Amino acid sequence: MDLLIHNLAEVATPEGAEPLCGATQGRVRRLRGAEVLCRDGRIAFVGSPEELRRSFGELPDAERLDGRGGTLIPGFVDPHTHLPWAGSREEEFAARLAGKTYQEIAAAGGGILSTVKATRLASEEDLAGLVRRRMDRMLEWGTTTAEAKSGYGLTLPDELKQLRAVRLASASHPVDLVPTLMAAHEVPPEWRQDRRRFLDLICEEIVPATAEAGLARFCDVFCEEGVFTAEESRRVLEAGVRHGLLSRLHADEFVDSGGAELAGELGALSADHLIAVSPAGVEALARSRVTAVLLPGTSFFLMKHRYAPARRLVEAGVPIALATDCNPGSSHTESMPMVVVLAVFELGLSIEESLTAATLNSACCLGLGGEVGSVEAGKRADLVLLDAPNLLHLVYHYGINPVAAVVKGGRVVRRAD
Ligand code: NIG
Ligand code: FE
Repeated sequence: MDLLIHNLAEVATPEGAEPLCGATQGRVRRLRGAEVLCRDGRIAFVGSPEELRRSFGELPDAERLDGRGGTLIPGFVDPHTHLPWAGSREEEFAARLAGKTYQEIAAAGGGILSTVKATRLASEEDLAGLVRRRMDRMLEWGTTTAEAKSGYGLTLPDELKQLRAVRLASASHPVDLVPTLMAAHEVPPEWRQDRRRFLDLICEEIVPATAEAGLARFCDVFCEEGVFTAEESRRVLEAGVRHGLLSRLHADEFVDSGGAELAGELGALSADHLIAVSPAGVEALARSRVTAVLLPGTSFFLMKHRYAPARRLVEAGVPIALATDCNPGSSHTESMPMVVVLAVFELGLSIEESLTAATLNSACCLGLGGEVGSVEAGKRADLVLLDAPNLLHLVYHYGINPVAAVVKGGRVVRRAD
């Protein structure tokens, strides 16, 4: 099966299978007038129409996608979402608009725990349906691969239910989901008097059962003041590693909790949020080449007026990735184009640095850098056609959906018209 993408103004893509960092974070190749051939689900060729004809002939049987003078980029890879949740928290959101803080709401029993209540009541099928609707929206905005965390169950059966829902939803949808166990998202009410035993439950039962069932690739923990300490986080992540789950963590979201240092020490695949990361934390990430997953949508939605120190991270040589953090409390969006816009306006990343962060670097921190994240021969043909004459329009024309078509595994799975 061949798909020929022609009549493009531009192909814009980072290159390689390793994360780009420092001065190379923004190294994006921009090819004018190129064509792209997809064969058997993979990219077979990227380059001039003449060269394509020389190597592959006229391809009379190929399906064609008319680029209509648009720009082709890699499909977005969203490496941090909390996709399988039930219920919604718009009342809490309204309370925040009226002046309450996210932490005050959480301390009063709302926040994550209110989503835990709703998610425990939902069936696996209900959750899978909710996840699928969110995946539809992701695809509409150009995401072709996303990570999805549990963490609203906080019991063995409910965490497994969330992860099974992720598996079920992803079996019948073009978007690929990569599952993460995040049983250490919060201490549920029934364990508040004995948090040590809740950690025992996670390390001795939930982690082994999840790994045994093959339901997660990663283990994540909310390392934050008032949630889990760095020492508790280390215990959970080490249990994960013993059972083959690679580490990533919510680090220094609200206060410096030593999360970045822990990520460096454990060689985690990513340290996420980092709004309050310390200079020593930045150094620790740089030394261990841990990817910083930045979530500017969360700062924006929580109205913190405080963003992660993206420029300092780039200057220190830490690879940056971008994600939505899609969840009902702190960042209710599936849109990677929105996150890219915020990265440019609020994190101070260039458009090229942001593109790398939302594609190649995010793929790499999910262990998928050899597979997706760039428009290059050999990679899986997961591509987004933008209705834009060049890459700059991805941010220049903001607040609209720029996606004209999405190609997944060499097939056109979505067209805007
Ligand atoms: O990444 N930080 C912890 N977890 C989410 C919020 C989840 C929620 O509020 O439901 C986050 O911001
Ligand atoms: Fe999160």
